[in-house]
Amino acid sequence: EKEHQEKTKVKNIQSVELGKHELDTWYYSPYPEPHASCNKLYICEYTLKYFRKKKTLLRHLAKCTLRHPPGDEIYRSPPAPANDPSLVGGAITNPPISMFEVDGKKGKVYCQNLCLLSKLFLDHKTLYYDVDPFLFYIMCEKDAQGYHIVGYFSKEKASAEGNNLACILTLPPYQRKGYGRFLIAFSYELSKKEGRVGSPERPLSDLGAVSYRSYWTREILEVLREHKASLSIKDISDKTAIRTDDVVKTLESLSLIKYWKGDHIISVTQKIVEDHCKTIANQKNIEIDLNRLHWTPYR
Ligand code: ACO
Repeated sequence: EKEHQEKTKVKNIQSVELGKHELDTWYYSPYPEPHASCNKLYICEYTLKYFRKKKTLLRHLAKCTLRHPPGDEIYRSPPAPANDPSLVGGAITNPPISMFEVDGKKGKVYCQNLCLLSKLFLDHKTLYYDVDPFLFYIMCEKDAQGYHIVGYFSKEKASAEGNNLACILTLPPYQRKGYGRFLIAFSYELSKKEGRVGSPERPLSDLGAVSYRSYWTREILEVLREHKASLSIKDISDKTAIRTDDVVKTLESLSLIKYWKGDHIISVTQKIVEDHCKTIANQKNIEIDLNRLHWTPYR
C-alpha cells in the first residue's frame, strides 16, 4: 500500500544542481519538507547534503573539507601509460576512476542522502532511511579538485535471496559511457571474491534490464569462446558468478539452448560465437584491473 502511494506521487523536485552539473530529475523522491516542495535543490557533491538555496550550498562548501565519499577507496583504475600511442592526436581516454565502499551503518546520513538523490532517477525503489543493512559502492571520477560521484550500486550485507546488487544508478550526465556495465561487472567481481553466484534484486527497470542483458550476453559468450570444449550451465555460472537461471535466460534469448529429454543443451557453433564477438567489439567496456581491487567480503 505504502509502495503504491509512493509510486503514484507526483514528481516534486524538477532539477538538482550537483557539482558542475544541473540534472533534470525523472521521478518523485521523498526529500523531507520543506525541501520536498522545492523546484530545485542544491546538493554538495561530496556529502550529498541538500539545500534550498545556492547561497547556503556555497556557505556549506566553504567549510566542507570532504573531497571523496566517506568510506574506503577499494579500487583505483590503472594510470594511463605515459607513452600510450592512443593518446597521440588528442584521443580521449577515460578519466581515472575510483570505487569507494561506504557502510550504511557508519556513513548513515551520506547513504540516506544518496538514496534520496538516486530515487530521483529510479521509479520503483523504496529504500531511503533504513540503510544499515547495506553497503554502498560509489564510483567517482577523479580530478585535481576531488572525487566526483558518477554512479553507485548498493548491496545487502547479507541477502537471503542471494542478491549481489540491490540498486544501481549512473547519474544522467555520465550514462551510456560504459559506467553501468563497469558497476555491474564490479558487483560480480565482488561475488567471485565471496566465492558465490549473485543476481540483481528484482524488479529491474527497463534500463536495468537492457544493461544486464548486455552484460550477461558478453560474459557468457566470452566464456564460451575461451573454452572450446563443451560447458554446462553450471560451468558457465561458476566461471562468471552469474546465477544459473540468468545464464539460461540469456542463452535462450540468443537461441543457443536446446532441450533434450529434460536437459539443457548448449548448442553453439564457433561461427555464432565469433559473430557475437564482433558485435560486442563496439561496446564501451572499461576493464577492471583485479590487481587493483582491495576488498574482503563483509563479515
Ligand atoms: N537506451 C538503449 N540502450 C541503453 C540505454 C538507453 N537509454 N542506456 C544504456 N543502454 C545500453 C547500452 O547501450 C549498453 O549496452 P551495449 O554495451 O550492448 O551497447 C548497456 O545498456 C549498458 O550501458 P552503460 O553505458 O554501461 O550503462 P549506463 O552507465 O548508461 O547505466 C543504468 C545503465 C545504470 C541502468 C542507467 O541507465 C541508470 O542509472 N538508469 C536509471 C536508474 C535505473 O533504472 N537503474 C536500474 C534499476 S534496476 C536495479 O537497480 C536492480
